Amino acid sequence: MKSAEIRERFLAFFERHGHQRVASSSLIPANDPTLLFANAGMNQFKDAFLGREDRGYRTACSSQKCVRAGGKHNDLENVGYTARHHTFFEMLGNFSFGDYFKEEAIELSWQFLTVDLGIPTDRLYVTVFRDDDEAFAIWRDKVGVPADRIFRFDEKDNFWSMGDTGPCGPCSEIFYDYREMVPGPADPFEAIESGSDKVVEIWNLVFMQFDRDEKGDLNPLPNPSIDTGMGLERIASVMQGVSSNYQTDLFQDIMNPVAANLGLEMGREASVDAALRVIADHLRAMTFLIADGVRPSNEGRGYVLRRIMRRAMVFGKNVGQEGPFLHRQVGVVVDKMKDIYPNLDQERPQIQLLVEVEEKQFERTIRNGLPVLEKYLDRFVAEGREQVPGDVMYHIYETFGFPIDLMEDVARDRKLGLDHAGYREVLAAQGSDAKKPAQAKVHPQLLADAERFETEMTCHAGLKGSGTLKRILVGDAPVEDLEAGHEAVLVLDRTSFYAESGGQIGDRGMIRGGDAVFEVEETTKVLDKLVLHKGKLVEGRLAIGAELSTEVDPAFRRDTMKNHTATHLLHQALREVLGLHVRQAGSLVDPEKLRFDFNHFAPMTNEEIEWVEDLVNREILADTRVATAVMAQQDAMESGAIAFFGDKYGDTVRVVSVGDYSKEFCGGTHVGATGEIGCLKIVSERGLASGVRRLIALTGPRAFQRFRESETLLREAGDRFFLKRDQFLSGLERMVEEKRALEQKVEELKMKLAKGGASDERTESVGDFKVLIKRVSEVSGGQLRQLSDELLQRIKDGVVLLAAEADGKAQLLVKTNRKDVHAGNLVREMAALVGGKGGGRPDMAMAGGKDTGKIDEALEKGLSLLRA
Ligand code: ALA
Repeated sequence: MKSAEIRERFLAFFERHGHQRVASSSLIPANDPTLLFANAGMNQFKDAFLGREDRGYRTACSSQKCVRAGGKHNDLENVGYTARHHTFFEMLGNFSFGDYFKEEAIELSWQFLTVDLGIPTDRLYVTVFRDDDEAFAIWRDKVGVPADRIFRFDEKDNFWSMGDTGPCGPCSEIFYDYREMVPGPADPFEAIESGSDKVVEIWNLVFMQFDRDEKGDLNPLPNPSIDTGMGLERIASVMQGVSSNYQTDLFQDIMNPVAANLGLEMGREASVDAALRVIADHLRAMTFLIADGVRPSNEGRGYVLRRIMRRAMVFGKNVGQEGPFLHRQVGVVVDKMKDIYPNLDQERPQIQLLVEVEEKQFERTIRNGLPVLEKYLDRFVAEGREQVPGDVMYHIYETFGFPIDLMEDVARDRKLGLDHAGYREVLAAQGSDAKKPAQAKVHPQLLADAERFETEMTCHAGLKGSGTLKRILVGDAPVEDLEAGHEAVLVLDRTSFYAESGGQIGDRGMIRGGDAVFEVEETTKVLDKLVLHKGKLVEGRLAIGAELSTEVDPAFRRDTMKNHTATHLLHQALREVLGLHVRQAGSLVDPEKLRFDFNHFAPMTNEEIEWVEDLVNREILADTRVATAVMAQQDAMESGAIAFFGDKYGDTVRVVSVGDYSKEFCGGTHVGATGEIGCLKIVSERGLASGVRRLIALTGPRAFQRFRESETLLREAGDRFFLKRDQFLSGLERMVEEKRALEQKVEELKMKLAKGGASDERTESVGDFKVLIKRVSEVSGGQLRQLSDELLQRIKDGVVLLAAEADGKAQLLVKTNRKDVHAGNLVREMAALVGGKGGGRPDMAMAGGKDTGKIDEALEKGLSLLRA
């Protein structure tokens, strides 16, 4: 039975039993910071189990995409060497959120396996949690499984949790006995306990009863629930009568074409088979991860993806693949899986491109790093060492990005190990385990203040506000009052200043009270609680407790807001033009410009840029209203607002929408309607890192200023060079053409001059032949050769000695048709006089030298050598 049929039968079976068929969720868990990737079917129902969400149905079934690499459930290193481990797999599951419990779950699973799939009952064993007598009794009495086929295991095997926190509970597992097909212990209990592949788990029924909190305490769920999981790959291998998941159609349909494409043969060499398993598994993982929006990077999900990709590349290299090969295999996975997961087909070109970019980058890393590593290894082997020291590992990793695991493989070939402990020490000393941006240190006084109060932020309510002065810091020192002329940081209990965050620069402006005028140059936030106004007291005096008015510079804020709203429009327009894979990767909004970084893999074409500009400007001209709303995070997610991966959001979030055009999570300040932006012009587009592009754009008066500058430039150039606007380019081309023609003319004239000047030319007789001696100026080497041909023709039989002075250098040429003269030898001796070297063929040779003053002497020398 093919895997597609098993998947469908499972879902149809549970549908018949009243379950809602639910599509797989993305591999990127929506809004769950405890999870790196979706790792079980129950993830998307977490809140339903916890009683926090009503999904409108109480039983469900799904086939869920899962990745177990990185995070709590990590199988990466095992893949390739076992029959059952995968980074990516599909999990079939049925779920009850406070509807049925143990009895029905057990009965349904048994019915599906033994009746629908027809698996003989004497092939099956079950396990229950240590003291779960209830489950034991159901299996024995209701289902009729003999007691000696039911085993009890403890927490390690029969208690399932999704992560360190969240829903969990005891479970009961169903095992399939491969019998003599797979070697292993004869006793089934022993086979299960030892984790042998002879008796394998196929289905896990979890009786969800608890929510584990941060402290590790188990709190009862509102309603006992059911979560089950059956790996599609495993049940497929049972149904297809094979002992390894890799022998099922799920993998064979990938491994066969991939092997053919790579020129490899399966079933001959163990290392080739292992490499194909790794490549097939990892190709599935990378294809699905990228399609769901993960991008290779150096941290978090992106790093796991990068490791998976690189592992596949290394295995490919080990079996002789040279250069990028993986990206061409992506299509095999897409074709196998696209009917079930149509987004793979839509994302196909992106996935291929991205894998190729990553492969090329990895090639460079290896190309640059490997020779350096090898040199070190040679030395260490010669010195009789056993390990590569930590500082060398660090050097090679930092300089070339050469992965440590690969270093390990290369070193192993030379019987060397890596000094991991030493490496960690170097890392710690370099502080480079903190590759993430260094957390700015918060002043201890501010830490203490943040315990007592928060600055109320009224930046959305108007430019002017008021507050009480709570803290003055001069340098590092808290002070009670401040005299004019001093720089300081002020903290108030309330402020209308926007503090830098979400890419938007903090406000500038004035803080006044009594005779005090404080000029704010920079506004930032610490701990998300206190707003810091950094600046200088230009007049008067300030003391703690003063009542102050906060006055934001209106032009500064206004221009910043234009750019911020324009950034949202730009984001949406890019997604329309380039595709939904475009996601903000960083942004900076200030009054001058907006800078926007996003994921995309090719430079934008001029047409794409113009199209994006057109879309944004259309929205600006429509003068669409900008609305903000504060709502529950879940509602915001469901409304389709764009949130950013990796960002943490509170329970309530602020959503900024521009009509129906754009909707984003955003805490920044925006214009009231898009017309205020005036217009937008993209002024630069470039690559930032692999797969990340950066745009810079101007709005309002600054965009206008840009147009004016271009206009002025055109006009002035036109005036000065007599170019009409509508003939500007053709006029320029004509000028370049004319210049080229003139240059050619000059060359011709020089040649004529060189041939002509008979005064610098004489002919001597030496024995029975003639020697023509001539000196010319400013000709190229090519012209000199051409001239020598013509001169030799003139004397018919003999030698031409030619010299030129060009660009301050001497050039000598000897040309002859006589067998008794060697032009190469002659020119070499002449060249010595002008301080140069040279030589060449017996019939024609050239030489150069620095000493132009000795040219005549060199020519005479040539003549006298011929005479001798
Ligand atoms: N969530 C359970 C598992 O992954 C069913 O095994």
